[in-house]
Amino acid sequence: MHLNTFVERMRGYDFDQDKEHIIEDLQHLARHRTLLSEHLCSTIKKDGFSTRNSLYGPYGYVLHHEALFSLRLGIWSPIRSADESGSIMYGVNHSHDVEIYAVGYCGDGYTTIIRDILEPGPLRAGIKPSLGEARSMKLAPGQVLHMAPFYQIHRQLPPDQLSASLSLVIHRPPTTSLEHAWCFDENYIPTCPGTATQETAFLENALSLLHRG
Ligand SMILES: [Fe+2]
Repeated sequence: MHLNTFVERMRGYDFDQDKEHIIEDLQHLARHRTLLSEHLCSTIKKDGFSTRNSLYGPYGYVLHHEALFSLRLGIWSPIRSADESGSIMYGVNHSHDVEIYAVGYCGDGYTTIIRDILEPGPLRAGIKPSLGEARSMKLAPGQVLHMAPFYQIHRQLPPDQLSASLSLVIHRPPTTSLEHAWCFDENYIPTCPGTATQETAFLENALSLLHRG
């Protein structure tokens, strides 16, 4: 399936009712082998060699973005030295304020460890929520992981080979203004609201220096 077809199909879906269709379409899209090269060619033609509007972090590309959803291609590198372990956000327990469907695209795929928060409601720093059992999923090509916003704490572990995944991110408004994405420590105690905010700030600063030159 081509990216344009996928986007058109997503626009026609009800994100609450059509979960099975979304998963099937993501699996079809993940069989298209030239998504990244097509994206890079079209953005270079449109914007030249600018990274603005294309990268969303140090390890991914925004293939499509609109108000209700976006599609990202994430790169997951294996870790072969202690120095590399800090270059990507592996092993950090966190939650998101968006709904995510991820499908393995290539490589053996990263592993996600997930625990559900059992009591809905706003979290407070330092107070551990009640949690379900941990479960694990390796995102091999074609495998799909679905995560609801706010209530699924997860961390990623590196793949054995360089891997990529596609993520459909659905931008739903929060049900209450008190709900946030959070980072958690290794004991699942909430530490600070927001996910990867420091990394995002660092990247934006680095990009602004590049553009200045
Ligand atoms: Fe995450």
